[in-house]
Amino acid sequence: MIQLHDKTFVPFINEKTISAAIKKLANQIASDLNDEVPVFIGVLNGAFMVVSDLMKVYPRNCEVSFVKMASYEGTGSTGKVQELIGINENLRGRQVVLVEDIVDTGNTLEVLYEIFSKQDVKSLKTATLFFKPEAYKKSLKIDYIGIEIPNKFIVGYGLDYDGLGRNFPEVYQLKTQQMTNIILFGPPGAGKGTQAEFLKDTYNLVHISTGDVFRYNIKNETELGLSAKSYIDKGQLVPDEVTINMLKAEVEKNEGANGFIFDGFPRTEAQAKALDKLLSSKNTQVNGMVALEVDDEVLVKRLLERGKTSGRPDDADESIIRNRIKVYYDETAILKDYYQKQDKYFGVNGVGSIEEITERLNNVIDAL
Ligand code: IMP
Ligand code: MG
Repeated sequence: MIQLHDKTFVPFINEKTISAAIKKLANQIASDLNDEVPVFIGVLNGAFMVVSDLMKVYPRNCEVSFVKMASYEGTGSTGKVQELIGINENLRGRQVVLVEDIVDTGNTLEVLYEIFSKQDVKSLKTATLFFKPEAYKKSLKIDYIGIEIPNKFIVGYGLDYDGLGRNFPEVYQLKTQQMTNIILFGPPGAGKGTQAEFLKDTYNLVHISTGDVFRYNIKNETELGLSAKSYIDKGQLVPDEVTINMLKAEVEKNEGANGFIFDGFPRTEAQAKALDKLLSSKNTQVNGMVALEVDDEVLVKRLLERGKTSGRPDDADESIIRNRIKVYYDETAILKDYYQKQDKYFGVNGVGSIEEITERLNNVIDAL
């Protein structure tokens, strides 16, 4: 995944596929032109890479030159004026092959074709590495096409987005799908863990459980883990900065993810703000705080039931259970308020069968 200006691009066509397509182009051209030495005319800027690679695999002698289309706003009623700069070779009687990196609507190629057909050349052929059939609006036949692609915006291998991206040896496409980042909440016994697993699979999200992240970092004695441990050992709260840096590392480990489920974080408004900042630095955001809502009495009953088999002492004692539920509401009230103000709080009825609850969650997330 690459970031150019404000946009994210994901891998689309690899180097191997590109070089195979170029070899195919070179061989087709060579077999059509026989022993005559062609003049490849590359259209700058985009075509510099394809022309270079095409020549390297061209099986016979060939020549090269480049042109550039310069368009500027004409005065009066003429509108856009296209001017060609760079042809000074004498092309009379030559076999000319116009080489484009990409043909989209075909406007550029048509203009070029007209200009070159007036040059008294022996033959004029057109070649392009990439072609978007769905976008093409012209009747001019393109003689050599490397790879047909859907009507998507691509970069790399000479192609740019506002100047950037030309240097990549492979091709990327614009990532249109936005990330889905969910903060999942639910009181103890609400079934958060079970539902997180389903959400993760359905939406292909990465589940970041803060508890797991802490345990992982401390166990593996990462710098952040050691720092966190030093506070824990002193009986102090781990500063938000340490926690957010651990999450940042998790997010960065999963570049290209469809999104994240944050579980156990944020716990304070300061953390919520830090999370907003982190995600915005990745050009994304929190889409919603999704909270499973279950009546206290139902939770108490469920947890006592679970306590009979789980052996967890905190599940066996009703007053401990009630206190855990109270702590949950005390902690989340601020966050509920924080996200509600941004219209990002979604309460989901957490009473019912697992399937029913999953469906309710899916409905909320599909609408995000
Ligand atoms: P045309 O619409 O065929 O005239 O293409 C015009 C120009 O738009 C091309 O020469 C490229 O410079 C640019 N272009 C078209 N599609 C893309 C793309 O997907 N990525 C980057 N540039 C493109
Ligand atoms: Mg071009």
